[in-house]
Amino acid sequence: MFKQMDLQRLVKEKLAGYLFVVVSNREPYIHTYVGDKIECTVPASGLTTALDPVMRACGGTWVAHGSGSADKEVVDSKNSVPVPPEYGSYKLKRVWLSDEDVDRYYFGFSNEALWPLCHIVFQRPRFNDEDWYAYKNVNRLFAEAVLEEIGRRKAFVFIQDYHLTLVSRLIKAKNPRAITAQFWHIPWPNREAFRVCPWQNEILYGLLGNDLLGFHIAYHRHNFLETVDRALECRIDNEKFSVTHSNHTTFVRPFPISVDFDAINERSQATEVDREMAAIKNKYGITDEIIGIGLDRIDYTKGIPERLKAIDALLTKYPKYKYKNRIIFFQLGEPSRIKIKQYEELNTEIDRLVADINSRHQTDGWYPIIYIKEHKSPVTLLAFNRLARFCIVSSLHDGMNLVAKEFISSRADRDGVLILSRFTGAARELEEALLVNPYSVQDIAEMIIAAIEMPLEQRHERMTKLRARVREHNVYRWAADIISDMVDIK
Ligand code: F6P
Repeated sequence: MFKQMDLQRLVKEKLAGYLFVVVSNREPYIHTYVGDKIECTVPASGLTTALDPVMRACGGTWVAHGSGSADKEVVDSKNSVPVPPEYGSYKLKRVWLSDEDVDRYYFGFSNEALWPLCHIVFQRPRFNDEDWYAYKNVNRLFAEAVLEEIGRRKAFVFIQDYHLTLVSRLIKAKNPRAITAQFWHIPWPNREAFRVCPWQNEILYGLLGNDLLGFHIAYHRHNFLETVDRALECRIDNEKFSVTHSNHTTFVRPFPISVDFDAINERSQATEVDREMAAIKNKYGITDEIIGIGLDRIDYTKGIPERLKAIDALLTKYPKYKYKNRIIFFQLGEPSRIKIKQYEELNTEIDRLVADINSRHQTDGWYPIIYIKEHKSPVTLLAFNRLARFCIVSSLHDGMNLVAKEFISSRADRDGVLILSRFTGAARELEEALLVNPYSVQDIAEMIIAAIEMPLEQRHERMTKLRARVREHNVYRWAADIISDMVDIK
C-alpha cells in the first residue's frame, strides 16, 4: 500500500528544485466570523477533502479564492496563512474576488454554464457574455497570484477543475519553466454535448496549455479527445493519448481520485466518534431501527429526490418496515450554490418531499426521513457513516464521488452496504457495491431491500473487498501517479 510517507519521499526525490503549487477555486480552510470570534472550518468539497492530505504530505502553496468572512483577518502581507491551523503544514494563499466576480465567474460561467454542460442531467446550461468575460478576468487573477508565488523559478503547478481552464497558458506566458498539470474533477461529456458551448475552442485551447491533463476515468478522457479532435486542428496520438497543438503536447490520462483511507479508518474509531454516535441515537430516540444515510452537497446532480422517492416506494410496497424493523433514513445535506435558481428550487422540492413522505407514512411518533440541512463536522459525518446499515449515493452523473469511498473507509467493522449509482466514476472501481440506475425509483427501492436483507456474512465479504480496493488505491497513490507522470514529461 502506498502511504503518505511514500508520497513525501517521491516528492522530495522527484520534485527537488521545483516549487509545488496547487490552484483551485475552493479553499481548503475557511475563516468565518461567528459573533466576534473567528472560526476555521473545512468546506463540503470532494476536491479539498482529497487534496488536503496530499498538501500536508508535500508542503508547498495552495492558491484559492478567499471566501470566508474573516479570511482577510488572518493572512499576512502576501495574503497567505499557514494551514491546517494546528500544524501549519503548508501555505494557503488567498485570491480576493469582488461580489460581482463571484456572481459572474463562479455562479455564472462555472456553475450555470460549465457545470450543467458537463453533467448530463438534462439541465440546460446558460451562456452569458458578461459571465464569460468575468471568468476570463478571474482566471487572470488566479494566474497572477501563482506568478507572484513562483516568479520565474522552476515550479510544478497543479491546477484543479473547471473554474480555471485558462490559467495554465497565462502562467506559462510569463514563466515558461513552469510545468502544469490540470485535473478535471467532474465528467467530460460527449462531443455533441460540449460543442454547444460558444467558447468551446477557447476552453479547449486553454486546457491544452497544460503538459498533463487528468480525468477520473478513461471514458471521460475518450470524450475529451473526441471533442478536441472535432473542434481543433491538432494531432492526436491514440497510443500515447496525447494531443499536439501549436507545437505543444499535452498528455491526457485517467487518474481515479480517492481518499486518505488510513486516516479516515483511524479517525472513525476514535472515542469522540463513539460519543457522537451515542448522542445521535439519544437525540433521535434510536434503538433497533435500521439506519440508512445519504450525505451530500445539495446539488441537482446528486439524485436526492430520487432516493427519497425510493424510500416512499419501499414503504408503500413493504409496509412492514413501518412497524417492525423500522427504517430511519437520515439525509444530511449541506446547502450549496443557493443563488442559482435550480438549486433554490431543489431545496424547496426536497423540503416538500420530506414533509409529504413523512406525513403519509408516520406511525405513532415514528417517521421515516430525518432531513438535516446544515454543515456538519467531520466527526458527525463519521458517526453517521458508522451508524448506517446502508448508504445511498444516487448521483445522476458524477465524476467520481468520494462520499462512497469515505463510507467504505470508515467501516472498520466491515459492515454496511453501499448502494451506488452506475453513473458515478466510483462505480467502475467499487464493484461490490449494489449498483443502481438512479433514474429508477423502483430499482433503488429494491436495492435498499437487498441491503437490509443481506446476511451479515455477505456484507462482510463485500465490504472487505471494497476496503481493500480503496486502501490500495488511496489518494496518495493518485497524487503519486500524477507527479510521476509529470516527472516523466519534464
Ligand atoms: O467535485 C466537483 C466540485 O465542483 C469541486 O470542484 C468542488 O470542490 C465541489 O464540487 C464543491 O463545489 P463548490 O466548490 O462549488 O462548493
